[in-house]
Amino acid sequence: MTQFDLSIHRARIVTEDQDYIGDIGIQDGKIIAIGEQPLAAGKKAIDAEGYLVLPGGIDSHCHVEQLSSMGVLCADNWYSASVSAAFGGNTTIIPFAAQHRGQSLKKVAADYAASAAKQAVIDYSYHLIISDATPEALHQHLPELIRSGITSFKVFMTYDKLKLNDSELLDVFAVAAREGALPMIHAENNDVINWITRHLLAAGYTAPKYHAVSHDPNAEDEATNRAIKLASVLDVPVLIVHVSTQGGAQVIHDAQVLGASVHGETCPHYLLLTAEDLDLPGVEGAKFCCSPPPRDPASQEALWQSLASGSLSLLSSDHAPYRFDESGKLPAGDATTFKMVANGLPGLEVRMPLLFSEGVRKGRINLQQFVALTSTNHARMYGLYPQKGCLQVGADADIAIWDPEKEVTIKAESLHDAVGYTPYEGKTVTGWPVTVISRGVCIVENETLIAEAGRGQFIARGVPAPLMRQRSIAPRAAFLRQLFSQAD
Ligand code: URP
Ligand code: ZN
Ligand code: ZN
Repeated sequence: MTQFDLSIHRARIVTEDQDYIGDIGIQDGKIIAIGEQPLAAGKKAIDAEGYLVLPGGIDSHCHVEQLSSMGVLCADNWYSASVSAAFGGNTTIIPFAAQHRGQSLKKVAADYAASAAKQAVIDYSYHLIISDATPEALHQHLPELIRSGITSFKVFMTYDKLKLNDSELLDVFAVAAREGALPMIHAENNDVINWITRHLLAAGYTAPKYHAVSHDPNAEDEATNRAIKLASVLDVPVLIVHVSTQGGAQVIHDAQVLGASVHGETCPHYLLLTAEDLDLPGVEGAKFCCSPPPRDPASQEALWQSLASGSLSLLSSDHAPYRFDESGKLPAGDATTFKMVANGLPGLEVRMPLLFSEGVRKGRINLQQFVALTSTNHARMYGLYPQKGCLQVGADADIAIWDPEKEVTIKAESLHDAVGYTPYEGKTVTGWPVTVISRGVCIVENETLIAEAGRGQFIARGVPAPLMRQRSIAPRAAFLRQLFSQAD
């Protein structure tokens, strides 16, 4: 009988649909035995009595080593981001290879892949960002990249230098449907935001809190509805990312009830922060400026309910790390207006602890839902399942061992990213990952990292689950898809 490389004993094993006390045996990076039967000790054995053993987290929306459309580079590279992710219980991250206008999509992806391969300490894939929907990008590079396992891409309806118009959105949706990729949509109405911004600035309202005013909830609700309607023209599955409003969540739910393959993601900051957090002296509120912005208690409540009901199926960090200085958030120092602030909040390391503490411990979601929202649903949504996102024989041994009672007061100085601040400074959470196992190797143990840069592997992804649906395409949409392909 082969001895396991690693064994875990007397653990409370929790998956998206199971919760039992059992043992896990690991060999060559894979789970080869799991169940209620006690197993023989491996070369290394962990007694996990009193702990939760969960699939390692998958953070499918984070920004790493990415240039913003304003030309600001993220504070985190692949090394610091993947280390921070690992300390937060994650074993896979999926950030973005971002094409800016005029750039070759293929070259952007190749450069990003090379950088990741040298630095990542956990497994990874990446999505594309398409901001220049040229024939070359859509009909040559994108199909090639999808075939190589990059089966999702993000498109923007706002940001002057990133946004696609409705016609371009239809183009990319048609390619996604034909080639087998999932579009992820940043849904905010650009004209509404620009119109409000212009009037705010003209009236001298420049403080960070006006960022939230400029990104009116109606701009998100309208764009979410439009995105879903555009996707319906071609009957294409889509994912609306970082849903922040009650209205946006409602639009998604209503489309789902009508049978559309529309999926939604939200982030901890929309559950835990509000627009009032931006209302601080000077430019301090810039620490809370992200797009869309944090909203209000009614939106928070609606988002919690949408997570609990499954209408929103992903909880991602949208980690967008900009330092609180002139290299990042504040390009003009104290004179930075809300329009100039680099958008985004850090949150890779605290995503899972925040959801555990505020969601599971406060009874808003159960443990199975926690696993689904932080890991399994991401694996399915992005074509990683069942290699990732589950605890079963044959899966990668990507595991987070949690102490459900551990109290941690979040402090920027204790986190492992390169951002230097956290929007959750001083907040105490209960529940934290104590051991993180990536492909059978304990990479975080005793609050120490035991992992070399570059040990993380690129995972070529399969078909996203929303594209594997059984039902047939609406005939009018099938006709339009065919027309598009003929013209191509
Ligand atoms: O404010 C945010 N979320 N910045 C990151 C980019 C994006 O839109 O996700
Ligand atoms: Zn976005
Ligand atoms: Zn983002």
